[in-house]
Amino acid sequence: MIKLAPSILSADYVNLQRDIEKIEKDSEYLHIDIMDGSFVPSISYGPGWVKAIRPISNLILDVHMMVQNPERYINDFADAGADLIGVHVEATPHIHRALQMIKNKGVKAEVVINPGTPVEAIKPVLYMVDQVLVMTVNPGFGGQKFLPETVKKIKQLDDLKKANGCNFDIEIDGGVNNETVKSAYEAGATVAVAGSYVFNADNPSERIEAIKQATK
Ligand code: DX5
Ligand code: ZN
Repeated sequence: MIKLAPSILSADYVNLQRDIEKIEKDSEYLHIDIMDGSFVPSISYGPGWVKAIRPISNLILDVHMMVQNPERYINDFADAGADLIGVHVEATPHIHRALQMIKNKGVKAEVVINPGTPVEAIKPVLYMVDQVLVMTVNPGFGGQKFLPETVKKIKQLDDLKKANGCNFDIEIDGGVNNETVKSAYEAGATVAVAGSYVFNADNPSERIEAIKQATK
């Protein structure tokens, strides 16, 4: 069964604590999308949000940095209470250094690839990560359609993981629902981010259950 990481990008910001309580008991992670208006067009929120959420949730705080040159803010997110920090390989010429910085703070390190980026781009750093995030949409917005062509990269990563005896998690993000999750799970995905499918529903925990049932 896949682990769930609801994305608060689609939550009600005025009632964030209430929305987090709705998903807390059914989820493993809480996905926090950081958008800088440069690496992606949108602007979302910063370390202050992570700091505010930390005391109200026991979930793994999964910080997805869609930020150009993420090295500038890694320490801030770690100090704010992130459990896991993801950096895009496309966002820095120094991905190895960025991942080292995350690990030096005692935080789990994740490397992220966009739909247009091949697995080969992250092969040299796979040995040092706790998680790989395969974007299943182009980052920047919630509510987009899952891109099925990304699934072969999940399989490729799962094969590499087995061949090299690594044990990183493989997360998917974008357009995930109880249908699209199936092929990704079969290919080797172990964590699913879901934003609009979970929070744009009267009963978010039913939606989480539907994703979990689809991957039994
Ligand atoms: C997209 C973000 C996602 C987003 C997913 O750039 O990284 O985490 O919240 O939203 P849905 O599940 O609606 O595609
Ligand atoms: Zn995300």
